Amino acid sequence: MEELRTFEASEKFKAEALVRDRSMYEAAAADRLAFWAEQASGLDWVEPWSEVLDWSDAPFARWFVDGKLNVSANCLDRHVANGLGDRVAYYFEGEPGDKRTITYAELFAEVQQAANALKDLGVKKGDRIAIYMPMIPELPVAMLACARIGAAHSVVFGGFSAASLSDRIIDAEAQVLITADGGYRRGAPSMLKGIVDDALQSTPTITDVLVVQRIGDAAEPVNMQEGRDHWWHDVVPGFSASCPPEVMDAEDLLYLLYTSGTTGKPKGIMHTTGGYLTQAAFTHKYVFDLHPETDIYWCAADIGWVTGHSYIVYGPLANGCTSLIYEGTPDTPTEERRTGDRAAWAKDRFWEIIANYGVTKLYTAPTAIRTFMKWGTQWPQGQDLSSLKVLGSVGEPINPEAWVWYHTYIGGGRCPIVDTWWQTETGAMMIAPLPAVTTLKPGSASGTLPGISAELVDDAGQPVGVPGGGYLTITEPWPSMLRGIWGDPQRYKDTYWSRFPGRYFAGDGAKFDADGDIWLLGRVDDVMNISGHRLSTTEIESALVDHPAVAEAAVVGRDDATTGQAISAFVILRGGVTASPELQAELRNHVATLISPIAKPADLAMVPELPKTRSGKIMRRLLRDMAEGRSIGDTTTLADPSIVPIIEEALNG
Ligand code: WTA
Repeated sequence: MEELRTFEASEKFKAEALVRDRSMYEAAAADRLAFWAEQASGLDWVEPWSEVLDWSDAPFARWFVDGKLNVSANCLDRHVANGLGDRVAYYFEGEPGDKRTITYAELFAEVQQAANALKDLGVKKGDRIAIYMPMIPELPVAMLACARIGAAHSVVFGGFSAASLSDRIIDAEAQVLITADGGYRRGAPSMLKGIVDDALQSTPTITDVLVVQRIGDAAEPVNMQEGRDHWWHDVVPGFSASCPPEVMDAEDLLYLLYTSGTTGKPKGIMHTTGGYLTQAAFTHKYVFDLHPETDIYWCAADIGWVTGHSYIVYGPLANGCTSLIYEGTPDTPTEERRTGDRAAWAKDRFWEIIANYGVTKLYTAPTAIRTFMKWGTQWPQGQDLSSLKVLGSVGEPINPEAWVWYHTYIGGGRCPIVDTWWQTETGAMMIAPLPAVTTLKPGSASGTLPGISAELVDDAGQPVGVPGGGYLTITEPWPSMLRGIWGDPQRYKDTYWSRFPGRYFAGDGAKFDADGDIWLLGRVDDVMNISGHRLSTTEIESALVDHPAVAEAAVVGRDDATTGQAISAFVILRGGVTASPELQAELRNHVATLISPIAKPADLAMVPELPKTRSGKIMRRLLRDMAEGRSIGDTTTLADPSIVPIIEEALNG
């Protein structure tokens, strides 16, 4: 493949783009708060703010102080009032091939019915609602219904286990759970309600469960507990499609989203109303160069992650854009292509969807792109992808090879790629190009967006020069920043604001190249990134030692060509327990059951010892070297260097 060093949008793309020069960067640099105020004024406010930012209680920010608005009203009511009720909000493509088209007017009506149903269940402003659903349209409906009545949602990714679901429900003290009987994945129903029933055995706060019927009688019977469980279709359509939006303060909680940190306990990241919506809408509009009248936009993430929250639900709807929601995986068959052998399935479902709907903007993750590379170019080449205009990437660093492949075979050599760096905590994109302005380099996320200021610092917190490498920090508060960790303000300060005083520490390493462009280098803490999913080493270690056969465990993320990182586990068995392939499989499955199949270790070695420093700290770096088949570097800090060959033997044997 020809080496591609830089890329600029075509003259035609530039001529039609929303932002064609650097004046927006200049305006934001000249007066950051005025810039954000201007972006916020694009929303509908019930009452204006008195102050753009109150940072007097740092690191606890208040944006658009005293401003009042409702997020669902901004996503629905104002578009319908502006005559856009017939515009499609979502095209839904189910995995089995079923399709739905939902206009803004229809979404508006269903959200209000669902909001009235929640009210009838006793939900009030300030309550928390847990949501555990597959990728079906009722998921955004449920989120918007919460936002409409001022209840905060806590969406739990549908791939999480019963234990993970109940932990999150308990921490948030959620009162109602919205779920579904199941969803379709990999050509078959994947049932959720049984997992819900298990989870709810330990959640005293849940009084009611609304259950969407997605699968129906096709699979196993669904248990509905009298008085607690209600079918969505029995309840919601009976309510009035009129529910006035609750007037919310700009700083009222919009949602919690749990994410992995460096300890075993997931953090409930708090996002509020005015600042969050401002930055989600702003970034979605300009980074994708959105033309809502003509664009068909598709973010292929799951709504259970922050990417789906900000770029399937809130950003796109605030911008009145038409989005696509796809339920399944990229290689799942439509009815006519289904065979028993997954390897034989057609692997062009994504490209077929793009061709059928005329998708113009696609947002996906490097791990998906690397999988498509592995499957081969024949799949995209068999479909008409000429509608595509901008391609997005998120979730992990995109390696230059994957960037070039994405650009060549999906983007037809024509589409700018926007590599967007951000986090659950940042709420919206922070570092990303503007497609008609930035000179793109494969593998670099380019620079901070207007209104965002980042610096790389060394161990001592001193800014590094250009070129240079260091820890990524954000130096000024931003509108969609997390407002804290649910129930744990001290952990918020400790995790993000204490390592480098006065700076937000993202946990990522990065470098500046000679032009000052930023290249993200991955996490520098004990957080792993598996296929773009965040998992903590400690969380998985806790799951392993939860098993009666395990005395001690260490987990590292090793490099993997497809998933970015893969989980390597090392366990010491308890006395009297014998190592066996069956036990190895059982331990890996134990993690899948306790956390999620995405957390299942790719490999697991049963070792007699773990490498520890004299102070008893496990040397993960050394384990990573071993897992990646590298020769071991310096072992002088080890308490007992003689264990290295023993572990290596266990690993290879
Ligand atoms: C990583 C996902 C490099 C990073 C939106 C960050 C990235 C973590 C990129 C957050 C990118 C995300 N380039 N790395 N474009 N985007 N990351 O909370 O390590 O699931 O800290 O949010 O993903 O993951 P999270």
